[in-house]
Amino acid sequence: MNITDLGTAKLSYQDNEIELPLLEGTMGEKAIDISKLRGATGLGTLDSGYGNTGSCTSEITFIDGEEGVLMYRGYPIEQLAEKADFVEVCYLLIYGHLPSVEELTDFRNSLTHHSLIHEDMKKFFEGYPPTAHPMAILSAMVASLSAYYPEEDGDTNIIRLLAKLNTIAAFSYKKSIGQPYIYPRNDLDYAGDFLHMMHAVPAEPYELDDTLVEALNLLLILHADHEQNCSTSTVRMVGSSGANLFASIASGICALWGPLHGGANQKVIQMLERIEKDGSDYKKYVAMAKDKDSDFRLMGFGHRVYKNFDPRATVMKQSADEVLDLLGVENNPVLATAKALEEAALSDPYFAEKKLFPNVDFYSGIILEAMGFPTSMFTPIFALSRTVGWVSQWKEMLTDPQNKIGRPRQLYLGETARDYVDIEKR
Ligand code: CMC
Repeated sequence: MNITDLGTAKLSYQDNEIELPLLEGTMGEKAIDISKLRGATGLGTLDSGYGNTGSCTSEITFIDGEEGVLMYRGYPIEQLAEKADFVEVCYLLIYGHLPSVEELTDFRNSLTHHSLIHEDMKKFFEGYPPTAHPMAILSAMVASLSAYYPEEDGDTNIIRLLAKLNTIAAFSYKKSIGQPYIYPRNDLDYAGDFLHMMHAVPAEPYELDDTLVEALNLLLILHADHEQNCSTSTVRMVGSSGANLFASIASGICALWGPLHGGANQKVIQMLERIEKDGSDYKKYVAMAKDKDSDFRLMGFGHRVYKNFDPRATVMKQSADEVLDLLGVENNPVLATAKALEEAALSDPYFAEKKLFPNVDFYSGIILEAMGFPTSMFTPIFALSRTVGWVSQWKEMLTDPQNKIGRPRQLYLGETARDYVDIEKR
């Protein structure tokens, strides 16, 4: 463990004082270790939303929100986005190093050869109404994989999960539009296979477009991990109880679904459609987002950690421009509204003061819309990508000697002790 001991930090309270260990991580981040605080003082801490609380040490992903830095295993996201493919990034995140040619070939082959789902699982899809959100199907199917692979076979189950998720996500879409399932093809790479399973039909050949495969590959890389965010913390929390891999990841899928997290990419397009239907009066919506009496927020803007810019959004914006150019969709009214809204918000002092700028999901929503994905598939595609982050964090947690079941405390504000009143006297 590469922790540097920086001595102690002093905490004074009432007439007491305690010294707590002050630690430093490899990128210079400092943290006060409060793990002995309650035992030594009886004091707890209060940190709603965990904005200041580190729940674990990790060697996987580093973020500097002030400087807009994101690195996987020490490699800057910009370099990985330019040079790597998603499967290579998966290997890096899970095993901690860039694969050799042989390691990458073996890993790719394993992913390819585990992509079929058990034929019985196809029957599950039949039970859902056509209106079912694919995230509902995805989470249930992933939890159900534990019924087919009950053995605690960590690494093989990780491969199975990554490989089959592509197929499950595409099948759930085919179910929702009433088309036959398209089986995975072993000659296609991860992103290409997914596009094929989503868009091909048995009646005619489907031509994959390299630019779209590349754009999807990029999107998968940019979303692959993001340290201890809401869904990853959920996976670690559930996994800390000893729940199996599939159950832990299914819980992450549910956490990701929320509109303040991965569900934001779908909400971005729904918001843009609403603005467009309302006469494209985007200024009205910028004003609503600033109005304290309105609960309207600009979806795809702001971030808990990034306070100057989201480095993923910088890369994604460039890709969005390329995809829009390629597909010639500059006349799409929803995408025109997106550009107008982006400009209006970026030049507004309110957004500058609150450090609100477009996040990765603003542009990923735009790209996926332009690529012809239905909005309901946006968050499942995010889940396809983030699953590798979740499994890497889950695997790291299992081998961490400090790991124990997650169990936060609270500050109780309810009634003080009182006696039970018999029902006839209330
Ligand atoms: N539109 C308008 N005002 C906003 C927005 C927004 N999108 N986001 C934050 N604010 C305001 C908020 O009203 C608050 O104002 P005040 O200080 O006057 O009360 C201030 O900015 C701070 O907001 P917060 O909610 O305390 O910040 P947070 O760190 O808890 O929330 C967030 C971060 C991402 C949930 C939030 O910015 C948001 O709801 N954004 C829209 C949803 C979204 O795009 N989510 C995707 C995040 S990126 C993908 C991922 O990693 O999950």
